[in-house]
Amino acid sequence: MEEKLQALRQEVESEIGGVEDEASLQNLKAKYVGRKGVLTEILKAMKDVSDSERPKIGKLVNETKVFIEGLFDTKFENLREEKKKRALSQEKIDVTLPGRGAASGALHPLTQVMEEIIDIFQRMGFQVAEGPEVETDYYNFEALNIPRNHPARDMQDTFYVTQEIVLRTHTSPVQIRVMETQEPPIKIIAPGRVYRCDSDVSHTPMFHQIEGLLVDEHITFGDLKGVITEFLRLVFGDDLGVRFRPSFFPFTEPSAEVDIECVICGGQGCRVCKETGWLEILGCGMVDPEVYKSVGYDPDKYSGFAFGMGIERITMLKFGINDIRLFFENDIRFLMQFM
Ligand code: DAH
Repeated sequence: MEEKLQALRQEVESEIGGVEDEASLQNLKAKYVGRKGVLTEILKAMKDVSDSERPKIGKLVNETKVFIEGLFDTKFENLREEKKKRALSQEKIDVTLPGRGAASGALHPLTQVMEEIIDIFQRMGFQVAEGPEVETDYYNFEALNIPRNHPARDMQDTFYVTQEIVLRTHTSPVQIRVMETQEPPIKIIAPGRVYRCDSDVSHTPMFHQIEGLLVDEHITFGDLKGVITEFLRLVFGDDLGVRFRPSFFPFTEPSAEVDIECVICGGQGCRVCKETGWLEILGCGMVDPEVYKSVGYDPDKYSGFAFGMGIERITMLKFGINDIRLFFENDIRFLMQFM
């Protein structure tokens, strides 16, 4: 028995020597010290040992078991160490390499300018209002004092959905929707998409506008001039030249178109301002009493002003962009310039 155990120790030692990975070692361990392993068999055979021999042999078997288990533990440990060393020598990291940098997105130039304009008006106390892009003929035209067959309808090339439903041609209908549900004082801006059947270097069938409306008691054209001039100087620069030219809109009386000093040539005259030194930038006026009638306001008590502007045009002038279609072609080389 003693010799048998001694031989077992050597056998295990030499077999372990040839093992190179943990899985094989695990199998080998099962073969010797597992529940059905060699050592278990030997322990079972203890019943055949004579009573006088049993304590001695029993001790020997136990020592052998501890010894063999120790061999396996050491080998497991060694294999793990080697694996770690191999990994460390193979995976070399050059900590001096420059980083890859995270690609970041940016807002579309139109969104940037839209947000800037909204921010300016919010600081002046205007609240943002919204309305539907699919609008009724009533809100888009009728309530704004543009009756059917009125020549002013020709100013806007309308997409008709049905006889009564259109894609809104401007953000002005939001004025009506707000006044129908609120009493003065009203101080809102209405940003959003609008649609006209038109397409060339300065027109796309979809574009963006911001409408403004301020109604209260004792509001004058002077208030309108103050708000608009301040706004334009915040967008285009402190000492920008601004002028109000008499014009016509069915929903304002009097109406004006506002020009700014040409931001391309500084007012000297160039191709962009058609040698005039001025650029048309927005439409505005005092809300026409006819509009108050549509919403049930008392025109003798309240007065106010409205204005409307195109975001694409303002963005083009701000950045010197000469073709409106660039905004919607999604050419990354164009868009990257506004990161
Ligand atoms: N709705 C006009 C347009 O799209 C712009 C406009 C002009 C809006 C004068 C106004 C205004 O509120 O008072 O051409």
